[in-house]
Amino acid sequence: MNVVVFGAGYVGLVTGAVLADLGHQVTLIDVNRAKVDRINRAEAPIFEFGLESLLQRVRNSHKLEATSNPSPAVSEAEIIFIAVGTPPQEDGSPNLDYVHQAAVTTGQHVNADRKYVIVNKATVPIGSANLVEMWIDDGFRQRWGESPTSDVFTVASNPEFLREGSAIHDTLYPDRIVLGSDHTWALERLAQLYRPILDQNFDPPSGLPRPSSITKIPLITTDQLSAEMIKYAANAFLSTKISFANEVANICERVGADITTVMSGIGLDTRIGSKFLNAGIGWGGSCFGKDLDALIYTALEYGYQPQLLESTRQVNSQQRRSVIKRLQEELKPVKGRRIAIWGLAFKPGTDDLRDAPALSVIQDLLHLNARVTVYDPVAMDNMQQQYPNWDIRYASSALQAIQGAHALLIMTEWDMFRQFSLEEIVGRLEMPIIIDGRNIFDPEEAKRLSIHYRGIGR
Ligand SMILES: NC(=O)c1ccc[n+]([C@@H]2O[C@H](COP(=O)([O-])OP(=O)(O)OC[C@H]3O[C@@H](n4cnc5c(N)ncnc54)[C@H](O)[C@@H]3O)[C@@H](O)[C@H]2O)c1
Repeated sequence: MNVVVFGAGYVGLVTGAVLADLGHQVTLIDVNRAKVDRINRAEAPIFEFGLESLLQRVRNSHKLEATSNPSPAVSEAEIIFIAVGTPPQEDGSPNLDYVHQAAVTTGQHVNADRKYVIVNKATVPIGSANLVEMWIDDGFRQRWGESPTSDVFTVASNPEFLREGSAIHDTLYPDRIVLGSDHTWALERLAQLYRPILDQNFDPPSGLPRPSSITKIPLITTDQLSAEMIKYAANAFLSTKISFANEVANICERVGADITTVMSGIGLDTRIGSKFLNAGIGWGGSCFGKDLDALIYTALEYGYQPQLLESTRQVNSQQRRSVIKRLQEELKPVKGRRIAIWGLAFKPGTDDLRDAPALSVIQDLLHLNARVTVYDPVAMDNMQQQYPNWDIRYASSALQAIQGAHALLIMTEWDMFRQFSLEEIVGRLEMPIIIDGRNIFDPEEAKRLSIHYRGIGR
């Protein structure tokens, strides 16, 4: 099928490249020309496992092209995805400016004698399908002087659940595909697009084998509002699960229990499940905080006070602040001390820094006049580009970062950090202080080595 994707970011690029690899003809439209050029050279503009080889394949097969020009691709498309960013605003509501631009552009370029399914893949507030339909209509009227007489387009919702770091895997082998539309023809067209994934009848790319448990992918078809709500409810639930683990961790610390054992103990209950129960410095990333805030905002708009969701948010903020509190308990004063940070990205496997807990911890340390040296295996370039004025030092290796530091703070659980022994680490530190925000080391071993080790909830 002929597919257009507005926005070649973490979601749009991966979705477009995977669909192209499955045989569809895909055009990515992005306003960022540098990104467009890189994609056309088969270079991945983001760090994502398997993306570069996927891009090479779909560029060689001429199945994927990137451009900043909506013409002629939009008019020739059967399905148009809107996967642009929806960043959070001060009041918690998402900024829909980019969605607005993409929708108006779409309206300006669709042809009156064809039928298009326009798909909201961006996470947009509940009810946005109507809004997007109105904006597309605005664009159409700008070009043709009037609204279309027949059903030229319909807006469907197809929320995205991929996780950065395993985005290609998640797109090929999702837990479910959710489609929301009031039009059967639109749902059928989208189901046809996703047929190879739904039926799992494609040859898995090398390095991304099909998990043996997967034979077919469940398809949920519903109305647009419910589809939009599924996305928000999923992220709200996942962030609540982590905040729950952190709340219990804080109680564990006080009573002397170990959170990792406690969570293993409850996670084996199939009604609970073992995922997303890791206590630590809390969740971050481009989605959880933004989507939680947006759901809270929507609830308040409709006169409902979502107390559980607000607490999820509060526990997370408190968890980030607790890192500095732990450090201050071990190191007095923090002022004028050299602090090493391992990990910047909000989680391993990505270079994404959006709402990363490390950022707020570094800001607090700078306010306290500490000297900060950071190391992250992939996110340091982004850090330098996005925060060029921050007074921090970049180490060329994890071990260089800790050489002579008064304390080490672990912010991201990259596997490479686990390869170092506590002995190796403490030998390089000026003072034996480790604040392990991701619980990657063994507290007993730390105790044996007389390290002032502070994990979370243990
Ligand atoms: N990143 C994730 O893990 C993830 C997961 C699920 C859902 N989502 C949602 O998907 C959406 C996209 O997120 P992302 O992380 O891919 O964002 P991103 O910031 O990585 O990418 C957005 C892209 O859109 C481009 N863009 C902006 N305005 C445009 C326009 N008018 N026309 C064409 N391109 C335009 C930008 O240049 C950028 O490349 C968001 O709503 C997000 O909440 C993200």
